[in-house]
Amino acid sequence: MSTTGSNGGGRIAASLWVLRLAFRAAPRATIAMVICTIAIGVLPAAAAYVGKWIVDTVVLALPLRETGWGQYKPTLWMLVALEGSLIGLLVAAQRAQSAAQAILKTRIANRVAEMILAKATTLELAHFEDPEVHDRLTRARRDAGVRPYNLVTGVFVVSRNLVTLAASIVVLLGLSWWAVLLVVLAGLPAFVAELSFSQQIFDQQRKRTPEQREQAYLEAVLTREDFAKEVKLYELAEPLLDRFRTIALRIEQEERAITLRRNWWGTLLNLIGTAAFYLAYAWIVRRTVNEHLTLGQMTMYLVIFRQAQQGVTQGLASLGMMLDDHLYLRDLESFLALPVTTITGTKTEGRDPSAGLVVKNLSFTYPGATVPALENVSFAIAPGEIIALVGQNGSGKTTLIKLITRLYDVPRGRIFLDGLDVCEWDVHALRHRFAPVFQDFVRFRMKAGENVGAGDVEHWHDEQRWIDAAKLGLAHEFVSELPEGYHTQLGKWFKGGQELSGGQWQKIALSRAFMRERDAILVLDEPTSALDPDAEVKIFEHVQQTRGQRMALLISHRFGSVRMADRIVVLDEGRVVEQGPHDALMENEGLYARLFKLQAAGYLGRNSLAPAREADDDAS
Ligand SMILES: Nc1ncnc2c1ncn2[C@@H]1O[C@H](COP(=O)(O)OP(=O)(O)O)[C@@H](O)[C@H]1O
Ligand SMILES: [Mg+2]
Repeated sequence: MSTTGSNGGGRIAASLWVLRLAFRAAPRATIAMVICTIAIGVLPAAAAYVGKWIVDTVVLALPLRETGWGQYKPTLWMLVALEGSLIGLLVAAQRAQSAAQAILKTRIANRVAEMILAKATTLELAHFEDPEVHDRLTRARRDAGVRPYNLVTGVFVVSRNLVTLAASIVVLLGLSWWAVLLVVLAGLPAFVAELSFSQQIFDQQRKRTPEQREQAYLEAVLTREDFAKEVKLYELAEPLLDRFRTIALRIEQEERAITLRRNWWGTLLNLIGTAAFYLAYAWIVRRTVNEHLTLGQMTMYLVIFRQAQQGVTQGLASLGMMLDDHLYLRDLESFLALPVTTITGTKTEGRDPSAGLVVKNLSFTYPGATVPALENVSFAIAPGEIIALVGQNGSGKTTLIKLITRLYDVPRGRIFLDGLDVCEWDVHALRHRFAPVFQDFVRFRMKAGENVGAGDVEHWHDEQRWIDAAKLGLAHEFVSELPEGYHTQLGKWFKGGQELSGGQWQKIALSRAFMRERDAILVLDEPTSALDPDAEVKIFEHVQQTRGQRMALLISHRFGSVRMADRIVVLDEGRVVEQGPHDALMENEGLYARLFKLQAAGYLGRNSLAPAREADDDAS
């Protein structure tokens, strides 16, 4: 698809692209549209021509009223029947056209929505975090249901009017070429005005995308269940609604101004068209009376002149609207053409599975940030090893995990899995090797079992695997007690759904990670923040019991659990400041020892800094 550039060539290309889209989406409906378009364009002129015959024949028959006009009867009845048939055909063509249009509309809308969604699935996490990309996505989605379809109908409306105009011109040339010139010129000013307004409105809408996104966000906050508690208790509804209103009002005012201007100019310029028509009217009347034209010709020319004029104004008007739609198509194209450079290799397994996971001199700065989130981070996990990652909020733990799992590209430094640089791995094979639970894990509004099964899409509906995984993730017990067990719909979005507690949802997410195959590296980012200390210990025990050759990277703020890891990596402001087993770090008397003692003191009383066995403060 090539629609860039606001030149005529681009516009034609856009129209062709859209026509091809229409044809692929609904071939029969598109062909029907073509046939109906031609029919609807030609039939009115043909009917007017027959009308002229009728009037002229009637004029010939009039003087024979007394003596008998039998000789004209067959011709007249035939002509009336002919005109009736033409109009009947016209009605049928119009009906068929609206049926074809309705079919085209849904098909095109679905096809475009599909294209947008398909593109969205190829985007990287970084794209989703980029407001610019969000704006483009919003714009592409907003009008996907109407714009491409409008463009298709626009092409047909313009073509139909061109056909009407051509047919009318053929007839009008019999009158004078002056009439043809008058018709075309009178329509132009309105068209030029329309074009300029289209552009203005489009620019305005584009400028407004961020505001409209804010509106959509406010709508979500005000209507969604996950916001409802805080919105109510902090009484945020009224002020948020006010914000919504302010934006709506501003948009309304801007739109009102431009609408009024558009219509004011529209009226003025349409008056030119009306003036042209009556000028032509007067002229045709004069020529008729001066005996140059028959009565039949007079009626025909008046009808045809009107038709030609409508052809011009309607054709130009839809051309103007097509400009609007074409501008949208450029947005759609710019979204679809968004470069997605997922660097992916081809290898599906590493050279040396005993090499484990190695992170070397990794640094990362978020786009637009001034300080790096990670600086020169190096550490390794051997097969079968459990590593804990600790550090205060904002120290870069989650960022590290996003880099390791290749949710972001690795700009500086390298990461190796099984002796192979992650960039050489096939992205899908690589992703298959991780079993993550994020802090902001997903609560799928699906069945409990499906929520767990999603951890391994190839066995999504394997009920035995659900149960095995749920036992490890501590979800089995409460899921079994749900009304329909693993087949219970979770969340309140759909009818009959059961809501779970935060901790229960977290157990579901953990079970999902355990659903992954055994060689997948467990990456748990504060996965137990909502669990009671008992449950957290059990989860960590399960990780230990099922480890085999499995690697695990655990993040927790509870030092009682952290100490169960084989080794601990301590992050501070994006740097690794210490790493080693618990005992070594305690001897070290560094940041880890300090934080550990601080937490332990909390349990044993302010003055005691002795290490505690069960330090289970929830600091997330
Ligand atoms: N998506 C993001 N875009 C920009 N900056 C981010 C993003 N996520 C985190 N940061 C910043 O990176 C730093 C590290 O964040 P994070 O890795 O989430 O910390 P932790 O998980 O250790 O609490 C923080 O200063 C945070 O503000
Ligand atoms: Mg985090």
